[in-house]
Amino acid sequence: MAQQSPQQLWGGRFGDAEGRTNECLAKLNCSLPLDSRFYAEDIDGSIAYAEALARAELITVKEATDIGVALEVVRREWQDGTIKFLPTDEDVHTVNERRLIELIGDVGKRLHTGRSRNDQVVTDMKLWLRRGIRETIAGLRAVIVAAVEQASNNLGALMPGYTHLQRAQPVQFSHWMLSHTFALQADCQRLLELKERANLLPLGSGALAGNPLGVDRQWLAKRLGFAGVTPNSMYAVGDRDFVVDFIYCCSLASLHLSRLAEDLIIYATKEFDFIKIADAFSTGSSLMPQKRNPDSLELVRGISGSICSSLSGIMMTIKGTPSTYNKDLQFDKQFAFDAFDRLQDALTVVEGVIKTMELNRESMEMALSPDMLATDWAYYLVRKGVPFRQAHHYIGEVVAYAENLGRELNEISLEDLQKICKHFDVDIVEVVDYAANVEKYDVPGGTATQAIKEQLKTLQAYLQELNNL
Ligand code: ARG
Repeated sequence: MAQQSPQQLWGGRFGDAEGRTNECLAKLNCSLPLDSRFYAEDIDGSIAYAEALARAELITVKEATDIGVALEVVRREWQDGTIKFLPTDEDVHTVNERRLIELIGDVGKRLHTGRSRNDQVVTDMKLWLRRGIRETIAGLRAVIVAAVEQASNNLGALMPGYTHLQRAQPVQFSHWMLSHTFALQADCQRLLELKERANLLPLGSGALAGNPLGVDRQWLAKRLGFAGVTPNSMYAVGDRDFVVDFIYCCSLASLHLSRLAEDLIIYATKEFDFIKIADAFSTGSSLMPQKRNPDSLELVRGISGSICSSLSGIMMTIKGTPSTYNKDLQFDKQFAFDAFDRLQDALTVVEGVIKTMELNRESMEMALSPDMLATDWAYYLVRKGVPFRQAHHYIGEVVAYAENLGRELNEISLEDLQKICKHFDVDIVEVVDYAANVEKYDVPGGTATQAIKEQLKTLQAYLQELNNL
């Protein structure tokens, strides 16, 4: 093994005792606790870069192979946890390069030819993004699977649909469940769009000006699975928009989980009692023995605040930076990994809650009331040829009349109804049946059983599509 160098990789000019980096700065400057997470991507990028150097005849094929073999040794050290750090290691790039040089000496010193950590780190981050996207989609997928399962197992269960948290119209529980699920599908689609958009290789941009040594960027792009190369080296090294996009995708997904959590928290109250959250996802109170708290869902709702704060964090970090790379950008990792990790936690918890929750179909149906059919009464008149605006007005009168008498809509006699509008007839009793009414909403996207089955099919096909990715 070659002798360990006590110096930083940039230390040519800073090497003497007086020039040693201030301790606090060294700590702040060190991104190792964060970027060690993509040691594998850094190694992948470096092996490919060594091959590109060989293709440009800047090193020999043998040297490229030696670099590749040594970097695989370094990879194994990371894997087994035997990799050692020195106080002078600034980040994952310096660790990998230092170890390479320790292992194979001078040949290792050729790897960084024409490369800068500026194009290296953004390349690594883009390579990590693939993993971030893949694992986030896998988490979303698991929630979608659980929700689809609940929705298909409970077809036919009716409950009040709410707007403004006021009882609005009867819907199926499955319809409600899938309303949240489609938002999660859109999250997957958004992430996949980002994957495409971000898939341009920055490597070969150097520190900022590009590469003067004939490195074939197009070849490198293919080699590393990119669709093409970034179009401007100064843009490439300073661009973290893909990180913003990723955190935005995570933020939006977390908001979707938060809204779902909020519905579930409400539905789990004694007042609603539509669902029971499993013991494994509930906690008790230290004071009140009867309590059964939906902490799991409150944490999911709370986590979204922290994920969204990462979004403003990355945007504020980028805001004042002048062109190209500045060290501020080092914080991109903190925001991206934090958003990713917290979303993973939230997804796991939500998946578990949905899988294990129990429905109380009776309470859901008991929460339905005849006034929720007022709209359907108006449609009844519409079917008899009354213009909707007028029908709405007539039903308004019926509702007021019933309210005055302290009765439900279905408790008004036909005679009285006909006094308000002559188009009322004996068949109005059919409108009183909730289930039959719900089945009328058979438009695509509606709450009729057939329409929900179509929605289930759409989601099942999408899950299949995700499987084939
Ligand atoms: N650790 C740095 C980061 O994460 C790598 C890039 C350093 N570049 C530099 N010119 N100092 O951003």
